[in-house]
Amino acid sequence: MNVIICKNYEEMSQKAADIVVQQVTQKINSVLGLATGSTPLGLYQKLVKAYHDKDISFKDVTTYNLDEYMGLDVSHPQSYHQFMYKHLFSQIDIDLSNTHLPKNDHHHMQECAKAYHKLLSKTAIDLQILGIGSNGHIGFNEPGTPFGNEVFIVELDEQTRNDNKRFFNHIDEVPTHAITMGIKNIMRSKHILLLASGIEKSESIYHMIKGPVTENLPASILQLHPNVTVIIDEKAASKYLENA
Ligand code: PGA
Repeated sequence: MNVIICKNYEEMSQKAADIVVQQVTQKINSVLGLATGSTPLGLYQKLVKAYHDKDISFKDVTTYNLDEYMGLDVSHPQSYHQFMYKHLFSQIDIDLSNTHLPKNDHHHMQECAKAYHKLLSKTAIDLQILGIGSNGHIGFNEPGTPFGNEVFIVELDEQTRNDNKRFFNHIDEVPTHAITMGIKNIMRSKHILLLASGIEKSESIYHMIKGPVTENLPASILQLHPNVTVIIDEKAASKYLENA
């Protein structure tokens, strides 16, 4: 793992954007794996700026998102479909037909998982962006998820629903299930770029880098991937630095 420690969120976002720009410059038809949540927002803002500055074009880029809440209408402001459209897709020159998020019809959950799995198996992700949960999840692969999983339906961890309740009016509105790429899908990416900022991520970052590879801390699997870049701010790095 190549671990890069930045002063703050701003620097983390800029360094991540530089890597994405470099990837798409080298291969204009790159396939990007995208994440949602607070962490990549700064990265997406930087990419929008890079597009306006003509440093990058997404015309030939294809994207696949990691996950989506189950049963939340895709027009719901907290759906990841809306998140991606608002924060990135609507502001760049990407062809929307080249952007992919898992379908999330809760009456047909297994069919949705099969369909996304089929789509992913026809492609190879060049660069996968990841955040990390305070419980060490990546995508919605919660602690205890088998490493062998491919796209599947997950019942969300209590800690994850609590972490995400800030986006909803009430905890009861936070969906209980999601559809997510499995660890196996994520590990197939050629290059993985994991971002984290803030003290609340320091514990999971420490275990991801230094701890045993265990399904109890899903991100620890990344120790076994040959090409992982971890970009974190000083707060997220604090426990790792204390024990380095
Ligand atoms: P966050 O979520 O970026 O909103 O902290 C990260 C994650 O849960 O993967």
